[in-house]
Order: sequence, then C-alpha cells, then structure tokens
Amino acid sequence: MNIASHNFNITQEARAKQNGHNAFVVWFTGLSGSGKSTLANAVEMALAKKGIHTYILDGDSVRNGLSAGLSFSEEDRRENIRRVAETSKLMVDAGLVVLAAFVSPYIEERENAKRIVGYANFVEVFVNTPIEVCERRDTKGLYAKARAGEIQDFTGVDAPYESPRAADIEIDTSLIPVNEAVAIILNQLAPKLKLRNE
Ligand code: ADX
Repeated sequence: MNIASHNFNITQEARAKQNGHNAFVVWFTGLSGSGKSTLANAVEMALAKKGIHTYILDGDSVRNGLSAGLSFSEEDRRENIRRVAETSKLMVDAGLVVLAAFVSPYIEERENAKRIVGYANFVEVFVNTPIEVCERRDTKGLYAKARAGEIQDFTGVDAPYESPRAADIEIDTSLIPVNEAVAIILNQLAPKLKLRNE
C-alpha cells in the first residue's frame, strides 16, 4: 500500500551489455553434505576465470545474516528460500550470475523461487548424492547429532526432502568428480551466458 515503483533508466539489458554476459541463477538443491557448496564454488571459479560476474549465496552464510533467527521448521525454511529468491532476483537484475546452494527441500518453494526470479533466469541443479554417502561424509557432524536426537527436523533423517522431478541438471557427486560436474554445468550455462546479438 502507498508504494509506487519508479522506472529507473539503467535496465537489466544495459547491465548485461556492459558486463558482456547475461545474468541468471544456478540453483543447487540437495541434502546436507551432498556437495552443493563445493560445486557452487568450483563453478564460480570456472566462471570467474572467463570474466563472468558471479556471487554465491549459500545456506550456511545466509543463515548467519539475511536469514538469521530462522529455524529449520517447514515455515522458516519456506521463508528462508523466499528471501534467497528475492535476493537472487535483485542480484540478477544487477547483472550477476548467482550460484545459490540451499537444501531447499520443498518442491513448492523451489517453484516459488523460479516464479520470483523468472523461469527463463533459473537453472535447477539437483545434487542427487545418496543419503548414505552424505551421512558417511558427515562433514559438519550434523547427521551423527541428528541420529542421536540432538538435532531435530534434520533433512533426510526426520524432515523430508522432495526431489525435483525435472531438474535441468542432475549430479551424483559420489559418481562424478567435481571437475567433470563443473564441465557438465558450464556446458549447459554457455548458451545462456551469451548475449543475443553475439
Ligand atoms: S533450507 O532447508 O532452509 O534450504 P539451508 O540450505 O538454508 O536449509 O541450510 C542448510 C544447512 O544448515 C545444512 O547444510 C546444515 O549445515 C545446517 N543445518 C542445521 N540444522 C539443519 C537441519 N535441521 N536440517 C538441515 N540442515 C541443517
């Protein structure tokens, strides 16, 4: 109410032209320990080498700032993803290729994120590493805590994960080494990065 939007003169298109590439979101979803952040980091390094302007948003950092105070209840996870989607939208408008790495366990919320960012600006990467492998890795020791009942609502243990039905890319990091996964992802991103008149 009582809010009118102003039409600013520098458009997303103008920013893309200035940067020499299009902007969009690469959204990594999957269990804790599946390799989302590792892949986001490796893809970002590869893109940076090509002079692409990027930014990583990931669960562990966002939950210390933008989403500080949100729990892992269903409601709070939905709010977390909504905030990340809105932030990603702003970053895409600013001309960045955003690498978002979030468990994001609910199909509905990922669909909502696509709607917010714009379907054409959203590449969904399902990091489909089996839970046994994630649990064996247990990089943060959280699966052990969840199994011991010290953490509640842990995804894959006592909270759900709804797999994407038609992700753009699917990677099982227990089968595919990081450098190969990066090549697969970059291959998919290449045509999206190119400006129309190139
Ligand atoms: S999401 O469900 O809201 O998308 P998000 O990606 O931000 O989750 O945060 C997940 C990270 O928080 C995990 O990688 C893990 O380190 C930590 N974490 C702490 N508690 C939980 C929990 N109950 N379920 C899942 N991850 C948790």
